[in-house]
Amino acid sequence: MELTHRPRRLRTTPVLRAMVAETSVEPRQLVLPVFVADGIDEPRPIGSMPGVVQHTLDSLRATAAAAAEAGLAGVMLFGVPKPEDKDPTGSQALAEDGILNRAIAAVRAEVGDTTLVMSDVCLDEFTDHGHCGVLTTMATGAVVVDNDATVELYAEMARAHAAAGVHLVAPSGMMDGQVGAIRAALDADGAQDVAILAYAAKFASSFYGPFREAVASSLQGDRRAYQQDGGNVREALREVALDVEQGADLVMVKPALPYLDVIARVRDLVDVPVAAYNISGEYAMVEAAAAHGWIDREAAISETLTSIRRAGADVVLTYWALEWALGREQGR
Ligand code: PBG
Repeated sequence: MELTHRPRRLRTTPVLRAMVAETSVEPRQLVLPVFVADGIDEPRPIGSMPGVVQHTLDSLRATAAAAAEAGLAGVMLFGVPKPEDKDPTGSQALAEDGILNRAIAAVRAEVGDTTLVMSDVCLDEFTDHGHCGVLTTMATGAVVVDNDATVELYAEMARAHAAAGVHLVAPSGMMDGQVGAIRAALDADGAQDVAILAYAAKFASSFYGPFREAVASSLQGDRRAYQQDGGNVREALREVALDVEQGADLVMVKPALPYLDVIARVRDLVDVPVAAYNISGEYAMVEAAAAHGWIDREAAISETLTSIRRAGADVVLTYWALEWALGREQGR
């Protein structure tokens, strides 16, 4: 056959394919989410997330050191208080000796500036009702999350994280005005250099399921009164624009895989770096199918991370971050 164009020519050898690869996934672009639990002596496996654990402070430090060694961008810390320490306002989130604040200090002391220490700013791990903020009862009798009272607590929480040594705070509660309030509180404390990674477009998702086990969440019901509806892309762009206006240094889309189109639209809309969170359920799906021998695990991980980068994410939060970076070193 006489053909002018034969695209297959550029696919003939691995080196040739590598030369023309449009998308790469590099350790410097990856963030490892980590869980640290109060009152445990040994790391505790999370059943729905094989390979992921709730850390002790010691195992957390070791993991953070490994992340730095592997060249990861950072670690995103989530605290899991003792069940008996949860209360309606999530007061352990603000306490200096609360598990998350202790963890931030321990990890920062361990890694210095060799990898970024990032923290989740949200109350759901710390409240006994499991919602992302404090509750209030409306005149109608409806119980809802009180936006403005919650934002005040987020600002206090961010100040505590900054005092403990965090590089970057990540408000994930989807309260209106949270980014601006946190920026103002940090600046008032002289913490101008602490950056804000805003969970700007966060959708109410079934794929958070395994995370609820990971943080031993007490949630009954759902978060649909504050997280976004999955069908709404224009609303996501509006949320992102508002967060940038309020001073977000980076914006995040979450979950990643069911929302790749949103990542692409956000990438086109703003000039700040865009992050995406390859969440617990996305991890669990691949791990579970691979455990059954139904898919090639490593190929599926590679394809997953590549798709999120291709969609436009500059930064990817993924539970596979460390494994990916170590695999790179071994030439996989
Ligand atoms: C809220 C928060 C959640 C996740 C990250 N931050 C849970 C939620 O909104 O219900 C989910 C992460 C994952 O599923 O991997 N603190």
